[in-house]
Amino acid sequence: MNIGTMRARRSVRTFTEESVASELIEKLSAYMKELDNPFHIPIEFQILDAKEHKVSSPVLVGAQTYIVGKYQRQPNAELAFGYEFEKLMLCAVSLGLGTVWIAGTMDRKAFERAIEVKDGEVMPAITPIGYAANKKSIREGMMRKAIKADERMDFEKLFFDRNFEHPLKEADAGRFLLPLQMVRWAPSATNKQPWRLVVDGNRIHFYEEKTKGYDREEIGDVQKIDLGIAMAHFEIAANETGQKGRFVQANPKLMLPENTEYITTFEL
Ligand SMILES: Cc1cc2nc3c(=O)[nH]c(=O)nc-3n(C[C@H](O)[C@H](O)[C@H](O)COP(=O)(O)O)c2cc1C
Repeated sequence: MNIGTMRARRSVRTFTEESVASELIEKLSAYMKELDNPFHIPIEFQILDAKEHKVSSPVLVGAQTYIVGKYQRQPNAELAFGYEFEKLMLCAVSLGLGTVWIAGTMDRKAFERAIEVKDGEVMPAITPIGYAANKKSIREGMMRKAIKADERMDFEKLFFDRNFEHPLKEADAGRFLLPLQMVRWAPSATNKQPWRLVVDGNRIHFYEEKTKGYDREEIGDVQKIDLGIAMAHFEIAANETGQKGRFVQANPKLMLPENTEYITTFEL
């Protein structure tokens, strides 16, 4: 999985009738066990057969296999989940499979039952895995249009130079251009793109610009999952461009716009 995979990735909601090849299931199962996250929070994944476990999502056509995950409720768990699940989904994409993050439009009770969610545990999201159909369902086409899924906010609305007063132009992003572009094209819940990054020398600070209604008692803050996804995209592209770093939490205490929260820093 690499920059090419992140560029090629798009949400897929319409699948062919073909079952996922067993060797691909084996590869994904092996990769699941290897995964870790910067917070070392355990995330448990399971691959489910839709018929056997009676699980479904009303926005999907033809989905026969799902991946579902859960964690123990704790600080940073949404970030850890977003980071690991996105890596798993990118692995599926690199194997030729279609995926889509689903945190809302699913039969939640059925998925929770299937993965046996216990007290204190959270099952935040799922993905189908399968082969993308040649033609999207009418519903999928309408959804993509309504949430402008093929568009992203301007680069300089998302990324900043040293502080939030100086928008960062794409032409000035230098060695961080590809990692930042990969964040910009990441998936996010209803394509809200809550990630804001401030580049300060060798340190890149990640912030969440919160939208009302996305932080819910029972499933946590969905936009923190978006931030975990952004962390994975940034790190994969940084590694591929020869920039090894690590995530730390060391708040630089910048002046922040409204509803904006410090999340983490990528330190080269
Ligand atoms: C955390 C998260 C939750 C999402 N939940 C849903 C969902 O419940 N239903 C759905 O159809 N799409 C869902 N999506 C998919 C987004 O709508 C999609 O990623 C976004 O519109 C951008 O489109 P793209 O992934 O094709 O680039 C979710 C995405 C993320 C990251």
